This record gives sequence, C-alpha cells and structure tokens, in this order.
Amino acid sequence: MLSLVVPTYNERENVRSLYRRVVDTLDGEDFEIVFVDDSHDDTPDEIRKLCAEDSRVRLLRRMERGLATAVIDGFNIARGDLLAVIDGDLQHPPEMLAHLLRAQRETRADIVVPSRYMPGGDPGGLSGVRRLLSLGGRALAHILLRESRVTSDPMSGCFLVTRAAAAPILSARPKGFKILLELLVRGDVQRATDVPYAFAPRGAGQSKLGWQTQLDYLRQLLDLVTVNPDNTRFLLFALIGATGVAVNAALFALMTSGYLDLVPNGTLLASLIATQVAVLWNFIWNTSITWRDRVRSDQLWRHALRYLVVAEFGALLTTTVLFVLRGLGLEYSLVDQLVGIVAAVLLTYRLNDRWTYLEQKPALQTERSMRR
Ligand code: GDD
Ligand code: MN
Repeated sequence: MLSLVVPTYNERENVRSLYRRVVDTLDGEDFEIVFVDDSHDDTPDEIRKLCAEDSRVRLLRRMERGLATAVIDGFNIARGDLLAVIDGDLQHPPEMLAHLLRAQRETRADIVVPSRYMPGGDPGGLSGVRRLLSLGGRALAHILLRESRVTSDPMSGCFLVTRAAAAPILSARPKGFKILLELLVRGDVQRATDVPYAFAPRGAGQSKLGWQTQLDYLRQLLDLVTVNPDNTRFLLFALIGATGVAVNAALFALMTSGYLDLVPNGTLLASLIATQVAVLWNFIWNTSITWRDRVRSDQLWRHALRYLVVAEFGALLTTTVLFVLRGLGLEYSLVDQLVGIVAAVLLTYRLNDRWTYLEQKPALQTERSMRR
C-alpha cells in the first residue's frame, strides 16, 4: 500500500483539489492520504470533510510547527510499505505520483525523486531569486554530501521512499526542513531513481519558507556533514584550502607591496614563494586535522612528498583548465579560474585521500606475522 503524506499549513483553498487530483491519478491503486496539519485557519475543517467522505483520507492534527517533523509524524502513523510526500499547495502536480509509483516498480529503487533539474524537468514554479537559491543550495548539497549525488534534485519536497529505507530516520526529530537530504544521508538508501517534472506555481496562499529557512538549510547541511566521516574530511580540506588561499594572497601582497624589499626578482618569484608557503601551511593543517587518524609519524616524509606532488598537480590542473576554457573562447576571467580551482580541489582531495594519506594495508601485518 502507498501512504501519501501531505503536510499542510494554511492550505484551505488547496486541499480539496489536491485530494481530487490524487484520487484520479491513483485510481485502482491501494493507497491512503495522511494530512499532517499545523494550520491556524480552517484547513483542518476542510480535511475533516474529506475524511468523512472517503475513509482513505486521514488527518493528524498537530499543535507545533515544522515541515520535517510533520512528514516524519505522518510516516509514523502511515500504514503503507511505500511512503510518499507531496506539498499541499499543488506545486507538485499530483499526477506525478503515478509516474513515481511506476518508476519504483520498474527499478525497485529505495527512493524515487521527481526532479526539476534533469532533461524534461522544469524549475518553472520558482521566481528568479528563489531559483538561484535553489541552484546554489543544490550545488552545495552535492559538494558537501556525497550521498546526495544519487539524485539531481536533493532539495525536492516531494519523493517516494520504501518504508525500509526510511526506517532509520523515523525516530529522529530533524531540525532542518529538507527531509529528503535527511533520508539520503541517514536513511538506508542504496538505489535512487529520478523522474522529470515541472514545478508549478503555487495554487493559493503563501509560501511559508522565508529567509530564516535559508539559514536553517545551512545549519542542516553542517549537521548532516558530520554523519559521514568522508564528508567531514572533505569539508575540513576545503576550509583549510580557503585559509591557504588567504595565506597565499597575503604573502604575495606583502612581498610585492614595495614596503618590504624582500623579493628583488619581482612578481613571478613572489608568486612562487607565496604558493609554496601556502602548500606547506595546508599540509600542516591537513596532516594534523583532516587526515590525523591516518597519519603515521614514521611516514611523515612520505606523506609530505606525496602531498607536494598532488598539490603541484592541482596547481597545474587549475592553470590548464584556465587555458582550455580561454581557448574555447570563454571570456569571464574569474569564472574560468574558479572552475579550475573547484576541479583541482575535488581532484586533489581524492588523490590525497587515496594516495597521500592512504591507510596502510593490514595485509602487511599478516605477512610479518606469518614470517614469524
Ligand atoms: N504541517 C505543516 N507544518 N506543514 C507545513 C509547515 C509546517 O510547519 N510549513 C509548511 N508546510 C506545508 C505547506 O502548507 C505546503 O503544503 C508544504 O509544506 C510546502 O510549504 P511551502 O511554504 O509551499 O514551501 P515552498 O514552496 O517554499 O518549498 C517547497 O518546495 C521546495 C522546492 O524548492 C517545499 O517542498 C520544500 O521542501 C522544497 O525544497
Ligand atoms: Mn510551495
């Protein structure tokens, strides 16, 4: 059975048409609709009417606020082995539910996500600023949380998930409102499938997610980053890298300012020195913080040498990307450098993780003990 959870906060004009469209779409399916309502208007009365007309409709009336907890509370009283969430304001076309269900049956995915950001999808319902925030938020999630990369729309408020995959978060009280991210990171998700859709303009009423929500989102990301040590490591690496950039720039400015006549041979040498000092700076912090659990004191020189090789490779990559993009005729001089830096950060992280600070294989130990 499919349990459709609909969180509602002041959606009285939308619940009935949502109900109608869901019933039309899921005709012939075994399903229930669980409204989880925190409204201060007469939305619950509208829902109660639906409950009286159709026994598949249920209402959980709460006395608190919170989109994420509303969804989890709904999951907890749901009876289905498949759980879905859809907004109560018709921004997610209910007709999509049939596609989600079909995709789940075809692919046996643990989670199916309707995506605005894939061929055939459309983020249309979002206004200019919201669209930018949505894109930025999505990029941030993809960079910081590797589990979120299984879907092209990890911020979607609508999705379908198996009860088994959602089980680990059913007793949680997440602070953030992106329940899908919570599921991807803390849930038991192996396989995900995306289905394209067009985000619609709101039916009636107002969005409840304002500026505070953006801050909450960042807090949620940081909270989720600490769940998986791999994600934490990458964030540390990126933050340390940022301090390295500052060190690099400050040193360079100091040496070329003219106040201190440190480097007579001009900018090229100054740039070279500043860069190498920054590499050393980064190495020290990454060794004592980011990969501290993998560092062996008797291998420090090996770590350092490999770190240096990787860092120089990263610098080379940044420059190469810059020249390739320029060669392609891209004229935004900051963007191409930025693209190069992002590529270098991602690649050098990987190389450091898999090579510079590679964990010593336990196989060596068995060998030694066998010899004895
Ligand atoms: N029960 C309950 N409690 N429901 C709530 C609450 C609450 O505190 N806050 C909001 N809702 C309900 C709304 O009534 C609506 O049905 C749904 O949750 C989404 O709220 P909106 O206010 O319409 O959010 P939005 O359109 O700005 O954002 C939606 O789309 C985003 C995609 O960009 C949400 O689904 C986001 O999660 C999603 O990321
Ligand atoms: Mn909405």
